Amino acid sequence: MRVIINSQEQSNELVAMEYVKLLKDKPASVLGLATGSTPLGLYSKLIEHYKNGAVSFKDVKTFNLDEYIGLSSEHEQSYRYFMNKNLFEHIDIDLKNTNVPSGLGADEKACEDYERSLIEAGEMDIQLLGLGTNGHIGFNEPLTPFDSVTRIVKLADATREANKRFFSSIDEVPTHAITMGISSIMRARKIILMVFGAAKAEVVKQVVMGKPTIAVPGSLLQLHNNLDIYLDFEAASRLG
Ligand code: F6R
Repeated sequence: MRVIINSQEQSNELVAMEYVKLLKDKPASVLGLATGSTPLGLYSKLIEHYKNGAVSFKDVKTFNLDEYIGLSSEHEQSYRYFMNKNLFEHIDIDLKNTNVPSGLGADEKACEDYERSLIEAGEMDIQLLGLGTNGHIGFNEPLTPFDSVTRIVKLADATREANKRFFSSIDEVPTHAITMGISSIMRARKIILMVFGAAKAEVVKQVVMGKPTIAVPGSLLQLHNNLDIYLDFEAASRLG
């Protein structure tokens, strides 16, 4: 595990350069992507690098971690909509190569199909992750089993509370989501976890310095052999 502490701006640039390098070496990479506030700066940098001609996504395949149950791809808070607006529409990726679990009609078979397509795509080159204030990764909430795969989950109250900023009221925040599991995430060749802000300093301490435990799903990432954690100074402030 490497912990890299910088400003948000520097973190975004350093991570963007990882992608530029990867895609130069392996244009047909498989990328695991995340939504939320954290990757927005990184996605802007990737768009910039694409526009400058430094990188192409023409042959890239992507898999997103999760989606809210009940939101269609046109819903402004759906993760499919987020990815289209914040990344895919601005780069040369073929939308057919982008995978976001569907929030509509998701059932056991849809979960199995998503997991199977992940496996069939081959090892993910980089899995990008953000971290919930309760330690979740993807929507794998505390006490998720280590061997979990793509499935439908109930969102923790803390998660709905944290995400209500995107909706007009808490009642509109979906109660369930479809998410890749911990074991789906751990299969990636490399994992990049980005965490910003003082509100996550305490959970960052548990993720980086605590014993790996399913009570703090992010701490299980310590068991991966190729993990880079990018923190801003605020998120790193409890590490001592
Ligand atoms: C998003 C996801 C979540 C977020 C986490 C942090 O696809 O899987 O685990 O990464 O909730 O969200 P932000 O970045 O909004 O603080």
